[in-house]
Amino acid sequence: MSMAQFDRREFLRLSTAGALGATAVRAGSARSQAQETKPIRVATIGCGGMGNAHLGTIMRLKAAGEPVEIAAVCDVYQLRLDAAAKATGGKPYRNYKDVLAQLDIDAVSIATPDHWHAPIAVEALNAGKDVYCEKPMTYWKSLAAPKAIVKAVADNKRVLQVGTQGMSDDVWDVVGAKVKAGALGGLVHAQATDMRNGPIGLYSPLSNDGQAKPGENLDWDLWLGPAPKVPYEPGRYFAFRSFWDYSGGTGTDFFPHILTPLIYTMGLTFPRRVTASGGLYQWDDGRQVPDIFTLLIEYPEGPSVLLISSLSTDSNLPMVIRGKNATATFEGPGAIIRPQGAAGDAAKYEELPRTRGGSLDEHWKDFLRCVRTREKPRSNELLGYYVMTALHMGIHSYLEGRAYEFDPATETAKSV
Ligand SMILES: NC(=O)c1ccc[n+]([C@@H]2O[C@H](COP(=O)([O-])OP(=O)(O)OC[C@H]3O[C@@H](n4cnc5c(N)ncnc54)[C@H](O)[C@@H]3O)[C@@H](O)[C@H]2O)c1
Repeated sequence: MSMAQFDRREFLRLSTAGALGATAVRAGSARSQAQETKPIRVATIGCGGMGNAHLGTIMRLKAAGEPVEIAAVCDVYQLRLDAAAKATGGKPYRNYKDVLAQLDIDAVSIATPDHWHAPIAVEALNAGKDVYCEKPMTYWKSLAAPKAIVKAVADNKRVLQVGTQGMSDDVWDVVGAKVKAGALGGLVHAQATDMRNGPIGLYSPLSNDGQAKPGENLDWDLWLGPAPKVPYEPGRYFAFRSFWDYSGGTGTDFFPHILTPLIYTMGLTFPRRVTASGGLYQWDDGRQVPDIFTLLIEYPEGPSVLLISSLSTDSNLPMVIRGKNATATFEGPGAIIRPQGAAGDAAKYEELPRTRGGSLDEHWKDFLRCVRTREKPRSNELLGYYVMTALHMGIHSYLEGRAYEFDPATETAKSV
């Protein structure tokens, strides 16, 4: 039995017996050397686009000698479930609760639409599983969801990685160390964009594979889960990112990938104030979410952070961190730090190459390493909480046309 399995069984025994509170559960200690090579048994919940990417990665890592295996696959759409089970040999489940009840599953990956992330993650953590949860860590509407995940990770001493795979790039550490050492001076401003130009099928409410039949091969009620009950529409199923009930549009689809590294590199936590703007100018095809979305996030004592996402122009801005004394730009083989004209010779720049790029394989390797060592993964739940706080405030700001401010004492946000 693996140490991860042992910990969970012990956890279940203790919590069932009620003899000890969650805090008394033994911290998931590092697996012994003999247990190091026992495969970590993973179940993937949600086997659409990203779930299949997880499954491919796990199989690739296993083939490369990583101690991991696919124990189960889960989806509410039978065609996808059958395909994933056939491709991987994982045991198929329609209902994620049946997956979480399996004691021989160590970890789950969650690749469902956003509205299901937190409910499944919290149940999984409470069932003693470690979790690889796709970005955004939670659905955007309430801060109760990220708070519940942070609490469940701590209470159960579990490991959670958010699926922002670009975080496995070590350029964030290289520049982060410079920021920490004061090489940039006081932080003033940062910017990052993810702008694309195209119909982007994932966002088209006209998407339909023509085969999904609710009540026959698709459990629509289970897909909706915590979302408002509405009759089946193919577009909602195949392009959930276009609807506020399941997604925050590009704001929650794209921004976790660029805001998480900025927060990490600059050592930021909660924002002070967030404002947003944008509109639906080019793709008015039944979708609810904007196709240009701009976020301004102000952190206490600075910096101000500008984020832009788009589905109708790919005219991106470079990723930049501006300090009083120097500017870091993320370009070429890593990053470049150039002194400000007023603070030195701008021509004397410093090149900081990365030694490891970001990828899904690297991000999964980090997760699996942390399952074994019980360390915090690179894109852990605390970073996820900080990111979701800014995005929660930003989407409310966009919808209400008001600025949002954060109160660190109560960890709540309200419009001003
Ligand atoms: N990290 C990345 O680069 C990246 C890329 C794409 C998607 N994602 C994230 O992955 C998630 C899924 O996106 P996608 O494009 O794969 O969506 P998708 O619609 O292709 O797949 C989601 C799957 O989840 C299933 N599902 C829904 N509710 C379920 C439930 N309760 N139990 C089991 N299965 C359920 C659906 O039937 C569907 O097959 C999103 O949150 C998205 O943001 C991340």
